[in-house]
Amino acid sequence: MAADKKVLMAMFMKMQEDVLKFIPENERPDVTDLVGFGSQQFLNPKVTECKGYRFPPPFSAETVEWQYDNWTPTDKDVLVASYPKTGTTWTTQIVKSVIYKDDENMMALMKVITPNISYLESGTPKNYDIMLKLPWKRKIWGTHLPAPLINMERLKKNRCKIIYVMRNPKDQVVSWFNMNKNMPFNKTEEMAKHFPAEWNAFFETLVNGKQPVHSKEGEWYPDHILSWYPYRNDDNVLFLMYEEMKKDPAKEIKKIADFLGVKRSDEEIGELVEATSFQSMKKEASKPMSQMSFFRKGKVADWKNQLTVAQSELMDEKFNEKLSGIDIKFTYE
Ligand code: A3P
Repeated sequence: MAADKKVLMAMFMKMQEDVLKFIPENERPDVTDLVGFGSQQFLNPKVTECKGYRFPPPFSAETVEWQYDNWTPTDKDVLVASYPKTGTTWTTQIVKSVIYKDDENMMALMKVITPNISYLESGTPKNYDIMLKLPWKRKIWGTHLPAPLINMERLKKNRCKIIYVMRNPKDQVVSWFNMNKNMPFNKTEEMAKHFPAEWNAFFETLVNGKQPVHSKEGEWYPDHILSWYPYRNDDNVLFLMYEEMKKDPAKEIKKIADFLGVKRSDEEIGELVEATSFQSMKKEASKPMSQMSFFRKGKVADWKNQLTVAQSELMDEKFNEKLSGIDIKFTYE
């Protein structure tokens, strides 16, 4: 076995073991295939496709399809859905803390569950064995899938709670660029074509819908919003905005707690604001999460340091065109 493959296998095995520790030994699923799959994705990253949607690693079309047919959450489950770099990790941490704040054992579990296990479309369906066997009363899932790739009818019927978080698209683009610059997958020639390391080329591929981001050819962030928008008033769905969370985190955290049916006093909300602040989360972040720019600046309006006037205007034009019929207003300042 090549040395780098061995290192990767060891890294993935450690990630799995950290989570598996929470499952009684005689019930632990065998994760050998999952570890092999994760390592292979790093060594030979490939875009996969189903129903015309394209997925970058570490996501997998096969898992997307399996999920649609089989994943059956209950009214105890929470799904945090978003387009990448719009505040997914932050929102997820709020959800985890709102629910499990007082449970040391569960908070320890929350720390080691990474997106490569908890995202609906990550890895292989074996992830679901792990997620289902973990001893948590309320499971917290994540996804970047557009709504048509999730069985929304089943989720609604089972009263699974869904939080969809959005962010102004200019800050999203800049955050996404910075993440992709550090993404180990993008080192191959094929992947670098999709996600160029140079800013202007990156911007062009993105706004022209050339990047495979859980999207069909020609689609990007506005299409993701359009796919979720019809569900915004459903009882089991809550729409949030990154900029609103920045402006008044206590108010938004309270909104999340109420939505999840968890009673939290004002004092507890204050503690949650502190525990989920950018500074606290950055300090507590695991090495891989930090290295992959999950906690970079955490600000509104960083786009002004990156986009040219022409690029900013082009985004306005494209967003206005695609979202003209819907009632979503972004905050850019
Ligand atoms: P920047 O790159 O602009 O700093 P996601 O979790 O969807 O990948 O989003 C990542 C973005 O959310 C990054 O934005 C990151 O810094 C920011 N972020 C993460 N935790 C945050 C927090 N607690 N408060 C505010 N922003 C946060």
